[in-house]
Amino acid sequence: MILHLVALAITIRGKQIRTLASFFILLYPWGRENELEIVFDSKTGNVRRFIESLKLPEEVPVVMIEPGLHILNPFVLVTYTTGFGNAPATTLEFLKSNHVNLKAVAASGNKIWGNNFARSADIISDMYGVPILMKFEMSGMPDDVETFKERVQNIRYETHRTK
Ligand SMILES: Cc1cc2nc3c(=O)[nH]c(=O)nc-3n(C[C@H](O)[C@H](O)[C@H](O)COP(=O)(O)O)c2cc1C
Repeated sequence: MILHLVALAITIRGKQIRTLASFFILLYPWGRENELEIVFDSKTGNVRRFIESLKLPEEVPVVMIEPGLHILNPFVLVTYTTGFGNAPATTLEFLKSNHVNLKAVAASGNKIWGNNFARSADIISDMYGVPILMKFEMSGMPDDVETFKERVQNIRYETHRTK
């Protein structure tokens, strides 16, 4: 809504700016405001494969973390665990400027790491006070896919209810 108003304000300020505003309006994802997004980080491809196996409908925005990414909508984060139970630096850097919209975190890991299994989820949950959606091994099993979808749907419902 704020962005709608800003666009409108810019539009009525002058001809030159109006051209810019029209461009902005064309790019702006109308109707996607407050749409719950899925944001993920992946180094060796497991999380990316997990995201692909969700077979999400096209209208669900799915974005991979890259430097400078800025997410305006609420989002669920899916990341992996690295080092000795650490969250990836790329994920932490992204969260520095995007954590206000973070609704929940899921993490991939490997149970051979014992107590450090998928511990990046605990770290991020503690840092930003958001729930852990789930932990899964590598690129997940079919059950993990179903669990993830169900829980994301609950978060989506909560997000819309409290909007
Ligand atoms: C160097 C290294 C360190 C890792 N440390 C952990 C760990 O502490 N805990 C854990 O659960 N998994 C750990 N893993 C496993 C990865 O989190 C797991 O393979 C994950 O699926 C990788 O996701 P990605 O393929 O999307 O990058 C580690 C993997 C590597 C290569």
